[in-house]
This record gives sequence, C-alpha cells and structure tokens, in this order.
Amino acid sequence: MLKLDLSNLEGAVSQEQLTAMTAEVAAAHDKLYDPAAPGSDYVGWVRLPEDYDKDEFARIQKAAAKIRSDSDVLVVIGIGGSYLGARATLEVFPAQGIEICFAGCSLSPNELNRVLDKVRGKNWSINVISKSGGTTEPAVAFRVFRDALVKQYGAEANRRIYATTDKARGALKGVADANGWETFVVPDDVGGRYSVLSAVGLLPIAAAGVDIAELMGGARDAMTAFDRRDMSNPVWQYAAARNLLYRQGKKIELFCTYEPSYSFVGEWLKQLFGESEGKDGKGIFPASAQFTTDLHSLGQYIQDGERHLFETVIYVDDTGCDVAIPYSDDNGDNLNYLAGRPLSFVREMAFRGTLAAHKDGGAPSIVIRMDKMSPRALGELFYFFELSCGVSGHMLGVNPFNQPGVEAYKKNMFALLGRP
Ligand code: PA5
Repeated sequence: MLKLDLSNLEGAVSQEQLTAMTAEVAAAHDKLYDPAAPGSDYVGWVRLPEDYDKDEFARIQKAAAKIRSDSDVLVVIGIGGSYLGARATLEVFPAQGIEICFAGCSLSPNELNRVLDKVRGKNWSINVISKSGGTTEPAVAFRVFRDALVKQYGAEANRRIYATTDKARGALKGVADANGWETFVVPDDVGGRYSVLSAVGLLPIAAAGVDIAELMGGARDAMTAFDRRDMSNPVWQYAAARNLLYRQGKKIELFCTYEPSYSFVGEWLKQLFGESEGKDGKGIFPASAQFTTDLHSLGQYIQDGERHLFETVIYVDDTGCDVAIPYSDDNGDNLNYLAGRPLSFVREMAFRGTLAAHKDGGAPSIVIRMDKMSPRALGELFYFFELSCGVSGHMLGVNPFNQPGVEAYKKNMFALLGRP
C-alpha cells in the first residue's frame, strides 16, 4: 500500500493543525455519500472498484483479446477524461505485441497525420471514447479514421470499431447501434476524469496487454484501506494538508515524479484536480514536473522564486530494474566514488537532497511513496487521488464533479466555425 509522508511539511503544517481539521475532513468525506451534496449524481466512481459491471468487464477482456489477435495497431480516440487515464497507464506499462496510438486529443493536423501514417499498411482497429458522444476533437478524428478504416476494410470495418459512450444518449451511441459496433458504457454517475477504472480506461489498457484485473484489484485495496474515518487515513491527511497549505497562500501544487514514464500520471492529475477544484474563483492550480530533469530548469524557480507553491512528490522505490555504475580505470569523471552503486541509489540521494533543499527554500513537499511499479500499485494510486480530490473539493466548498468553465471556449469556437 502507498505511504503518505508529511514530515517535509514541518514548519508549514503541524500535527496539531492537521488534527484540528478532523471534523472538516469528515464532513467533506460524508458529502460523497450525501444525496443532497453538490455533484451527488457523479459519485459512482467511489465504489466502482467493487461495484462494476462484471459482464462488461468480461466483454472488455474478450474484445481486447480480439483486438490483439487481429490488429497491429489500436487507435484510441478521446480527449480529457476519455483518454488521460489509459495514456497515463500505458506510458508506465508500454503495450506489448500491439501499438496503441492516441488521436482526437488535439486539433493538430500534424499529430493526426502521424497517427494516420502509423496505421497505413497495417491491420488496425479503433476504440472511440466519448461520454457525451459529441466532443469536437474526438468527433473530427473519428470521422477521419473511420473513413480510412472503411476504405481499407469495407463492411468488415464495423467489426473493428469499438465505441465507449453513454449507455443510451448521444450521437455516438446512435451511430454505433445503427452500424452494429460493439459498445461499452461510461456509467451515468462517473464523470470523465474519474473514469479510468471504467471501460473508458480498461479497454485500451487491456488491449495493450496490461492486467486490468490487477489494476482494479489495486483500486479495490485502496477503496477498503482509505474508507477509514479518522485522521490516520492518508486520504484525510493529504486532503487536510493541501487545504491548509492553500489557506497559507500556497496556490500551486506541483506534482513531481522521479520516473519519466509517470509524466502522464501528472497530466491525469492536472485534469483531475484542475477540473474538480478550479471554479467559483477558487482552487489550487495543479502543475507537474519531472525530476531530476526539471531540477535543471524549474528547479531554480522552485527553490528561489515566488513562495506560492508546494510539491506532491510521487516516488517509486522499486521500478523493477536497475543499472550498476561501472568502475573506470582513469576515473577522468571522478565518479569512482559511486562505482558499484546502483543508479537507484543516486536517484534516492537526489530525492532526499531535493526534499531538504526545497523545504529549506520554503517550498514544502508532501511525499507519496509507492513500493513498486505494478498495475496493482497504479490502481491504488488512481483511487487514492480520486478519493482525495473528491474530499478535498468538498473541503474547498465547490462541486468537485462539474466543469462549467470548459464550455466558454467551445461556445466561441462554434460561433467562429459557423456551427448550425
Ligand atoms: O472530465 C470531463 O468530464 C472532461 O474532461 C471530459 O472527459 C472531456 O471533455 C471529454 O468528454 P467526452 O467524453 O464527453 O468526449
């Protein structure tokens, strides 16, 4: 189970302050179960690791096996919550025996053409994912890829399109039913950014060959472990600590990892917290950084710039492999003092040194320590952050499950595009 370490908040957040937040965190946690609380229609994710559709789960496994047997490439089309969870998982656990490409997550002709190049001359399938069924970026990309698939396969294309969408509503559902595509459901009570453990994330992840039963198992472990209703619960401590820091003027949370493959976990977190909390003129601004890479760029600002940020560092102890630093006869680089040491030792010292330096510099860190890199551990991490975000959003006094602010640019764009 992941471990939360708040020792680097010393001087910024005390144990007494955390304890004093108990009633507030308890009330926020209770709101996730209160039908009168804001956003109460969208809390299906709270029990999803246990209360998921088992028949659909089996269908996902079956569809994934079919995709793996008849496709060299799977094009996953979706944006925001309809893509980030799968992308984050597949950056950590790269697809085996198949290539998974993501499209429809920008309006870049360059990106779209790159993915088109990848399917040319290959056997391939599409998983189009959109809860609303009408989001512009995936809808445009799907039109292009569907056209290419039909040109290549004719009527067989219909057996190569998998649509993940609302169970009854939306344009995508209508066209999927009309053409006989296999469909998977985004549950009504699960919003996009909380949907990684639904068919939205599970089909592409399973198609990549990653064990989704383990991913769900990790989330289930976390669901049980973090349901505890007292301040020993790491979710409570994290939600309380970040709200205390925010109230002290720490308005930016920098999600940092020491694993480049976790960079999209950072993207997923930016959406989760940004869309859940950034509203009504409030909210911590979520940002992300890769250490040690960004210690050579953002590191200057973190250490010495405006004191309005704190870090949440995700640190994985055992990444499943290591590299021994070799001995050098000439020692021209003066590194023989590290000869025989594993690279993970150097990383660990960089991690410790950075925590201390940033703490001294007034940029305190919350540390989330994971013992290993496995689908189970990642499932646990996803659930930990989802629950923390729901609780924290309620502490902030916002509805953590809507996103009214994302409509404004669309309104302007549609007017400029001349949408009828
Ligand atoms: O969290 C959310 O609800 C959004 O970010 C959506 O996931 C995103 O806008 C995509 O929406 P849809 O799945 O309806 O295409």
